[in-house]
Amino acid sequence: MNIAVAGVGYVGLVTAVCLAEQGHRVTCLDIDEEKIRLLRQGKCSIYESELEEMMDRNRDRLVYTTDGDEAYRWAEVIIISVGTPEKKDGSANLKYIHDVVRQIARSVERDCVIAVKSTVPVGTNDKLAQMLEDQLRDLRKDVRIRVVSNPEFLSQGTAVKDTLHASRIVLGAEDEQSVDVMKRLYESFNCPIVVTDRRSAEMIKYAANDFLALKISYMNEIANLCEIVGANVEDVAAGMGLDKRIGDRFLNAGIGYGGSCFPKDTKALHWLANYNDYELKTIKAAIEVNEAQKIRLMKKARKYFHSFSGLNIAILGVTFKPGTDDLREAPSLANIPFFLEDGARLQVWDPVGMDNLKKIYDGDLTYCASIEESLLNADACFIFTEWQEIKALDLRTYARLMKRPLVFDGRNCYAPEEAKAAGIRYESIGRSG
Ligand code: UGA
Repeated sequence: MNIAVAGVGYVGLVTAVCLAEQGHRVTCLDIDEEKIRLLRQGKCSIYESELEEMMDRNRDRLVYTTDGDEAYRWAEVIIISVGTPEKKDGSANLKYIHDVVRQIARSVERDCVIAVKSTVPVGTNDKLAQMLEDQLRDLRKDVRIRVVSNPEFLSQGTAVKDTLHASRIVLGAEDEQSVDVMKRLYESFNCPIVVTDRRSAEMIKYAANDFLALKISYMNEIANLCEIVGANVEDVAAGMGLDKRIGDRFLNAGIGYGGSCFPKDTKALHWLANYNDYELKTIKAAIEVNEAQKIRLMKKARKYFHSFSGLNIAILGVTFKPGTDDLREAPSLANIPFFLEDGARLQVWDPVGMDNLKKIYDGDLTYCASIEESLLNADACFIFTEWQEIKALDLRTYARLMKRPLVFDGRNCYAPEEAKAAGIRYESIGRSG
């Protein structure tokens, strides 16, 4: 099929390349000229394993452009995957989607289906359908554009696998024809397809993400209580996870969730409820717990040092999770300002996130080429991301290199007994020792 993808950020680019891999011809559109220039040279604009090779393999089926007419004119399906950033009040900013829809109305020359992958508040796709109808009437165009809600469930770091082996495809449509077109698009994907109305599809996306955020905040609270009463949260999670009704994933306690999705989507759903005179108490609690959890270890460290002034602090891992260079809402960013305000010297290491960190903190931090360099002479070490290199480190390295081997581990990378045996003073989440 002839596909256009509007907005080649994370979701858009992965979707485009995976659809090309399935044999579709895909035109990728973005307003960012630099990004399109890079893509045309075969360079992947995001950090995601397998994607660049897949782009290369399918280069004959992929076109990159900044020209809306070229992308939309003859497309059978137009996938919208532009950002819906958070506004100050927590609601989603729909400006970019509205711009795309206006351009589509001007450009299309044939009947087509718009599949909205961007995460949008419930009711948005109904409004977009109305908007399109009005615009086509004003433009006196005799084409039919149908709108389908088609939320995305991929995770950063495993995006290609999540797309090609999706747990489900959700189609929120108001007519049979558009469902048929979308089923044809996803014909070669072997996964369940949930067909529902547009509002339910939009809600599935928020409800799923917010449930996962809630699950993490719940485990973080249980972890905090474990510390108080002397239980071990990992054993508790293992014991809970064997119950199939609970499931064993997303039960890892830590220093809170980050990224471009959970923080934004929890606030957006909370905002939507408030806007409709309803309070989502569970989600409100999940948000509050997460904010406090992000700085929990830093607060614990204050028991060891009244101030961080003059200390050398090693920071291992800055991205919001391993497998990505993304720093958005990363717990590391909630902590770094406290250390700097006190006048600590920060020795930072991350395998891929440091370029993005340099865009935020230019000269203030020492960027280290290795974990060892970061630990050298440090008074304390904070682990904010569970990179494999950190987990695989010989624990004796801490005692060998640090001034004081004091480690605050926000991702439970080590067993407390082993850390103790290696001569480390070790603080982690939900475990004593
Ligand atoms: C999340 C969802 O998992 C995807 O299904 C969804 O499609 C995506 O948002 C989106 O809306 O686009 P992502 O933000 O890439 O994906 O990352 P996750 O792997 O879900 O991790 C989010 C955060 O939760 C990370 O900071 C991670 O460290 C934290 N987390 C995750 C925990 O603290 N504990 C866990 O057990 C799992």
